[in-house]
Amino acid sequence: MKYYVLFGPPGAGKGTQAGAMVERYNLCHLSTGELLRAEIAAGTPLGLQAKSLIEAGNLVPDSVVEGMIEAKFRDTKGVDGFLLDGFPRTIAQAQVLDKMVEVTGCISIMIPDALIHERIAHRANIEGRADDARPEVVQNRVDTYHAKTEPLIDYYRKAGKYHQIDGVGTIEEVRERIFSAMDKL
Ligand code: AP5
Ligand code: MG
Repeated sequence: MKYYVLFGPPGAGKGTQAGAMVERYNLCHLSTGELLRAEIAAGTPLGLQAKSLIEAGNLVPDSVVEGMIEAKFRDTKGVDGFLLDGFPRTIAQAQVLDKMVEVTGCISIMIPDALIHERIAHRANIEGRADDARPEVVQNRVDTYHAKTEPLIDYYRKAGKYHQIDGVGTIEEVRERIFSAMDKL
C-alpha cells in the first residue's frame, strides 16, 4: 500500500488536484476537512464539536482527526493506497501517522500567501464554505498553517520524503508537475 501526504497551505489546490491523482494511482482520497464538513452537515456530536473551531479557522483536536483516519484505513478496500489531503497538520499528527503506516512521500503544493487569499476569495462565491466567508478567518487559517503545519516541511525533508511542487500556474500545469514527481515514487 502507498500512503501519500498531500500537503500545502489553504487554497493551494489540494482538493482540486486530488481527483486526478486518485484516478491515476488508484487511491482513496481522504480529506479530513471534507470528512469534518460532512459530520457538521449531518449534525453528529463530532460535527457539533468541530463546527465552531472550523468556522473560526482553528484546528480541531489531533485525536479527532487521527480517529477518523484510522477508521478509514481499516474500512477501505480495493485501492492501491491513500491520498491524505490535509492530514497530518501538526507534528503530533505526523508522529501518530508514522506509528500507523509507512508514508510513501509528501507531495507539497506551494503557493505564496497573496495567492491563497485570491483563490479562497474566488472559491467563497462558488462553494459557500463557512470558513471562506470572512477575511479574518482566512487569515487565521493562514497563520495557523505557518505556526503549526509548516514545521512538517522539515519533518518530511529530514525523512527524505518531501517533494515540493510549484502550485503557481494552470490546474493542468500543476497536475503534470505532480504526476512527474509521483511517477518516480
Ligand atoms: P481543509 O478543508 O483541509 O481546508 P484547507 O487546508 O484550508 O485547504 P482548502 O481546502 O481551503 O484548500 P485546497 O488546497 O484544497 O484548495 P482547493 O483545491 O479547494 O480544512 C478545513 C478545516 O478543517 C481546517 O481549517 C481545520 O479546522 C479542520 N481540519 C482539517 N484537517 C485537519 C487536521 N488534520 N487537523 C486539525 N484540523 C483539521 O483550491 C482553492 C481554490 O483555488 C478553488 O476555487 C480552486 O478552483 C482554485 N484553484 C486550485 N488550483 C488552481 C490553479 N492552479 N489555478 C487557479 N485556480 C486554482
Ligand atoms: Mg481542500
